[in-house]
Amino acid sequence: MERTFVMLKPGVLQRRIAGEVLSRFERKGLKITACKMLRMDRPQVETHYAEHKGKDFYEKLVEYTLSGPVLALVLEGEDAIALVRRLCGPTDIHESPPGTIRGDYAYSTRLNIVHASDSPASAEREIALFFTPAEICQWADGNQDWF
Ligand SMILES: Nc1ncnc2c1ncn2[C@@H]1O[C@H](COP(=O)(O)OP(=O)(O)OP(=O)(O)O)[C@@H](O)[C@H]1O
Ligand SMILES: [Mg+2]
Repeated sequence: MERTFVMLKPGVLQRRIAGEVLSRFERKGLKITACKMLRMDRPQVETHYAEHKGKDFYEKLVEYTLSGPVLALVLEGEDAIALVRRLCGPTDIHESPPGTIRGDYAYSTRLNIVHASDSPASAEREIALFFTPAEICQWADGNQDWF
């Protein structure tokens, strides 16, 4: 099983759609193994988005990420990194088709509502930036009678 890091950005809580967005991942069958609500500080945002430093959208991206609380998640499943990116849809909002999270809920590329790791190396780095190993819950799929 593969792990990926997802962050629901401040607009998600502002718009009261955290449950809806989270359910997209759960309904697909991804397993939540860590979940945390937090208000990021500037050093953490700058580390998280270091690859974009110097780009024209960088400062606005940092400001947006600092503008309110976020929900940080670790999701687990087969091929989870690529699968979550597909569920989110392309970065450019004009190319995000209906049915994807960005296609259905975002209207601005800059105010993109969800972040998802784009490679195994990013996933590992991003998970470690937000969670200690003890905060990640290993749990087994068990009794199907629950459903
Ligand atoms: N051309 C752009 N104009 C405005 N904002 C942008 C642009 N490109 C990227 N961004 C913002 O920067 C974030 C990071 O961009 P990146 O290229 O890493 O896209 P992504 O990997 O699809 O998104 P994320 O890293 O947030 O999952 C995007 O989510 C978006 O908010
Ligand atoms: Mg990215």
